[in-house]
Amino acid sequence: MPRTPFLAGNWKMYKTGAEAVSFIESARPLLAGATGRQAAVAVPFTALAETAKAAAGSGILVGAQNIHWEKEGAYTGEISAGMAKAAGASFVILGHSERRQFFGDTDEWVSKKLQAAISESLIPVVCLGESLSQRESGDTFKVLGAQIKGSLAGLSEAQAASLIIAYEPVWAIGTGKTATAAQAQEVHAFLRGELKTLLGAKTSDSTRILYGGSVKPDNVKSLMAEPDIDGALVGGAALKPDSFAQIVKFDF
Ligand code: PGA
Repeated sequence: MPRTPFLAGNWKMYKTGAEAVSFIESARPLLAGATGRQAAVAVPFTALAETAKAAAGSGILVGAQNIHWEKEGAYTGEISAGMAKAAGASFVILGHSERRQFFGDTDEWVSKKLQAAISESLIPVVCLGESLSQRESGDTFKVLGAQIKGSLAGLSEAQAASLIIAYEPVWAIGTGKTATAAQAQEVHAFLRGELKTLLGAKTSDSTRILYGGSVKPDNVKSLMAEPDIDGALVGGAALKPDSFAQIVKFDF
């Protein structure tokens, strides 16, 4: 089954609604004709509605960067999957390493958020990644194996139909230090194998595995040439319409 490349910007805590609308207006003509791929931006909650409205008909998918797993309740400062969906989100990033590092997201929380996202038909982008010390001590596969198992706990094969995984080595995020295409491919192949064990061959074949960590217009093509790299999750280089468009059009 072909895996349509998914090229997503993760804006983190950048851009007001007005700034997001201006980005979309600039990106729209740059992306005209970019077929055979899915462009996407994960925006701050406060910009979701405006961005989704501005992006209508552009082919750019708009998503959120986090959700809470409950539908509603006394959870000050949190947003549910249904709320993100109603504001215009089509997808959601779950378990980004910054959430894990600064806000306490655990594999168990990610698995609960994953259930919430799927119940609202939000496409889940589940992030995994090892730290530099874990890589240096030779624990990369052990760490990632535990993360994927824990984050996808309770997920059925049917629920996994829209699942997207993002491999983001923590040491490559925002550091300018990209994993080499070969390093990323090695991990992607490992994760595809884990998906097979956990959810079967069909899910393993059809699930897109994105790479994230200092993806730029000048390295995206070599990453995308690897057989198990199906897209990118891009922070810094996705904040400007021109570099975002260059990344989306990696093979043009
Ligand atoms: P970066 O961030 O592209 O700025 O390294 C990637 C991410 O955190 O998703």
